[in-house]
Amino acid sequence: MNKQITLLPGDGIGSEVISSAVQVLQVVADEYKHTFNFQIEDIGGTAIEKHGTPLPEKTSAVCKSSDAVLLGAVGGPKWDNNPSHLRPEKGLLQIRKELGLFANLRPVKGFPSLLHASPLKEEVVNGSDLLIVRELTGGIYFGTPSQRNHEGNSAVDTLYYTKQEIERIVDKAFQCARERRKHLTSVDKANVLESSKLWREVVEAKKVNYPDVKVEHLLVDAAAMKLITNPSQFDVIVTENMFGDILSDEASVLTGSLGMLPSASLREDGFGLYEPVHGSAPDIAGKGVANPLAMILSAAMMLRYSFGLEEEACLIEAAVEHVLKEGYSTGDLQMQKGTKVNTDEMTAQVVSYITSESAAHSILSCYA
Ligand code: IPM
Ligand code: MG
Repeated sequence: MNKQITLLPGDGIGSEVISSAVQVLQVVADEYKHTFNFQIEDIGGTAIEKHGTPLPEKTSAVCKSSDAVLLGAVGGPKWDNNPSHLRPEKGLLQIRKELGLFANLRPVKGFPSLLHASPLKEEVVNGSDLLIVRELTGGIYFGTPSQRNHEGNSAVDTLYYTKQEIERIVDKAFQCARERRKHLTSVDKANVLESSKLWREVVEAKKVNYPDVKVEHLLVDAAAMKLITNPSQFDVIVTENMFGDILSDEASVLTGSLGMLPSASLREDGFGLYEPVHGSAPDIAGKGVANPLAMILSAAMMLRYSFGLEEEACLIEAAVEHVLKEGYSTGDLQMQKGTKVNTDEMTAQVVSYITSESAAHSILSCYA
């Protein structure tokens, strides 16, 4: 298989973790006789510094002509006071919109060796394995008007959804539920918001097409509460853009390690942008100590969702599980014992497992 991958390191630790993902992808390519070509482009604060805009036209064009995109992180204190069109985050929002990446998949699954670091009791979090399917290109993030009044003493944002935008994300979530434990929780605020009433109607209408999937509606405030009181009751959660943003950060710490969580942002045809859920971590940027595992797991999601390379994806995931089990951890991971490593050493451990004899056994278990 021959694929063209755009790399958008962005800001902070972005370039360090992207470099780890590339090393892992290279070794997978060698093992399986694939060719991955990489092209690096600017986004976020780095792009503001170099080109005066968080999303240069060339970056969009290169992403559009490639087979998939890997993104590190955007943002940092340096740009916090910039006007909104010159904020690094704007580049990320714009690329999601321009590439039509409406479906954001954020899996939250605990690694056994890290569960003790969860802010929840181990018995509460044990067995949690959920997938948040967040609508990513609509809702209050993109509705207009979004502005201040002339005097600057009032402001408006608009939560706008068309039926078609809701239908496609709901279909995606039902399809994901089918591949998992067949339980879909749709989260809204239908007791208050008109857009949520429409959302709920769409879910009700769609569910007849998926009789094998059990559907439940939850108001967002109750969902936030249940995520910490009984997280293992969830399988797939589908929700609109801002609720998904908030709930996915809440869910991400359940497993004791924000530094472990990957994500995929997909278009209807499977094209996607893959990024870790964590941010640019400016406090540790450039020190070579960032945890590369969420980025590496994002690369695995790319192989699975955009390239259909299930075995290769599974092998990377097994490698990550293995190095954690062996006790290797970066500074952000609170392991009780084991060996503290930096970014390069962690990456080397993952690479070494992928090329080892024991990797073959993991592949067998992928199909079990
Ligand atoms: C995320 C982030 C972004 C969002 C920011 C950086 C614009 O929080 O990917 O969850 O709100 O979507
Ligand atoms: Mg967020």
